[in-house]
Amino acid sequence: MNTQLSPNDLSRVIEADRAHLWHHLMQHKSLETNDPRIIVEGKGIRVWDQTGKEHLDAVSGGVWTVNVGYGRERIADAVRDQLVKMNYFAQSAGSIPGSRFAEMLIDKMPGMSRVYFVNSGTEANEKAFKIVRQIAHKRYGGKKHKILYRERDYHGSSIAAMSAGGQQERNMQYGPFTPGFIEVPHCLEYRAQVETENYGLWAADQIEAVILREGPDTVGALCLEPVTAGGGVITPPEGYWERVQEICKKYDILLHIDEVVCGIGRTGKWFGYQQFGIQPDFVTMAKGVASGYAAIACMVTTEKVFEMFKEDPSDPLDYFRDISTFGGCTAGPAAAIENMKIIEEEGLLENTCTMGARLIGNLEALADKHAIVGDVRGKGLFCGVELVADRTTREPAPEKMVQAVVADCMAQGFIIGATNRSIPGFNNTLCLSPALIATADDIDAITDSVDQALTRVFGH
Ligand SMILES: Cc1ncc(COP(=O)(O)O)c(C=O)c1O
Repeated sequence: MNTQLSPNDLSRVIEADRAHLWHHLMQHKSLETNDPRIIVEGKGIRVWDQTGKEHLDAVSGGVWTVNVGYGRERIADAVRDQLVKMNYFAQSAGSIPGSRFAEMLIDKMPGMSRVYFVNSGTEANEKAFKIVRQIAHKRYGGKKHKILYRERDYHGSSIAAMSAGGQQERNMQYGPFTPGFIEVPHCLEYRAQVETENYGLWAADQIEAVILREGPDTVGALCLEPVTAGGGVITPPEGYWERVQEICKKYDILLHIDEVVCGIGRTGKWFGYQQFGIQPDFVTMAKGVASGYAAIACMVTTEKVFEMFKEDPSDPLDYFRDISTFGGCTAGPAAAIENMKIIEEEGLLENTCTMGARLIGNLEALADKHAIVGDVRGKGLFCGVELVADRTTREPAPEKMVQAVVADCMAQGFIIGATNRSIPGFNNTLCLSPALIATADDIDAITDSVDQALTRVFGH
C-alpha cells in the first residue's frame, strides 16, 4: 500500500511528533535517537507505517479496539452523513442515532434497560461509581458506599478509576487515591494462592470474606472484568461467576461488569458476562463499541437502578446530576450502529468463536514445543500466553525477554502485545486479540510469527 507521503512531508510529521507529542504509555528517551512509529493507513486486519511496511495487527489497534477492522467506508459514510445533519447537542436532549443505538444495544442485553453515553471506558466506570455512591446516600445514609475491585483488574486512568485498579505497578506514584475502594483477591488459577480442589469457589469465597470483614452494610458494589485483560488475560475458573452472583444477591451488592475490552463481540458473544450466565446491575463498555471509528463509551444499567433516580421530583438532589459534554456527540452512536450491523451481517460472533478456537489450539501446540510457555488462556479472539523461566517453579520469564518476543514479531511484520507495567514481576503474558474478521490464514500466520520469535529469543 502507498503511504502517500513524500519524503519531505514525512520528515515534517516525524519532526513535529518528536518536538510536540507526548505519546501514551511511553518512555520518550528512545525517541531522541529513533523515529517514532507512525501508523499511516489501515485496511482489514493490516496497517502500514510511515516506511510503507505492512503489519498484521494482532491486537486490534494496540488495545483491543478495532473489532471490525480498518477502512470500513460504511462507518465513515454514516458518521459523515450524521455530522453534516446534526453533530452535537448536549445529552440533556436526545438524538436520532443515540436512541436508535440504545435500542439496538439493549436488544442484545436482556435484563438491562438504560444507556448513558460518555467518551471513554474510564468515564463509563466513573459514572457507575458515582451512581453507587449516590444510591448509598439516598438509601443508606451514605453507609453502603464501598466499591470492591479485584487484584489484577484495571478500570481506567483517572484517579478514581485507579483507586479501583488492581495493578500495583500502574498505580505507583499516583496516590493518594480515593477512599472507599477495597481490593479482593485475583482468580488466576495458574497463580492460585492455595491448593484446593475447587479453586473457582475458593476464589469467589474470598470476595465474601472481604465483604464480611468490611461489613456487608458498607459495601455497595463489586466491579469486575468478565475476563481480565491487561492484568494477564485471566479467564475465570469454573464455578467462579455463579458463586459471585450468589454473593452479590446475598448481601444486596450491585454487580458492575467492566466490558470495556470484552464488550461487543471480543469473546464470541456480545458481552463477556453472557458467557457465564450472570445478570449484572451495571455494564460499562468502550473500545469495540464503534471499533475506534468514533469515541463512544456507554454505562448501561437496569430499570431498577434508573427508577431510584426519579422517585422524588420535589427533591433537588434526587436525580443523577452528571454530564459528559462529548457524550452528546452523535458521531459515536452513528458509528456504533454500523459497527453492530457489520458484526451481525458478517457473522463475526461466529467467526470469533471459530477463529478463537483455532488461535487457542495453535497456541497450545506452541506450549508443546516451547518450554517457556507456562499457560495459555483465553476466550474467543482474546488470548494470553504466560511465559515462564521455569515450568516447575512457574517463575515468570524476565520482562525484557517478553518484550524481545514482541519486538521480534514486530520486525517480522506482526503486531502483538504483552502485559505492561501492571503487576511487578508479572508482566510476562503475551496478548493476542486480532480483529473479529481474522481468517484461518491470519491466525496461522500470527502464531507462526510467535513460534519463530520464541525460538529466536529463547533458543528452544
Ligand atoms: C478493562 C478496562 N476498563 C477500562 C479501561 C479504560 O478505558 P479508557 O482507556 O477508554 O478510559 C480499559 C482500558 O484499557 C480496560 O482495559
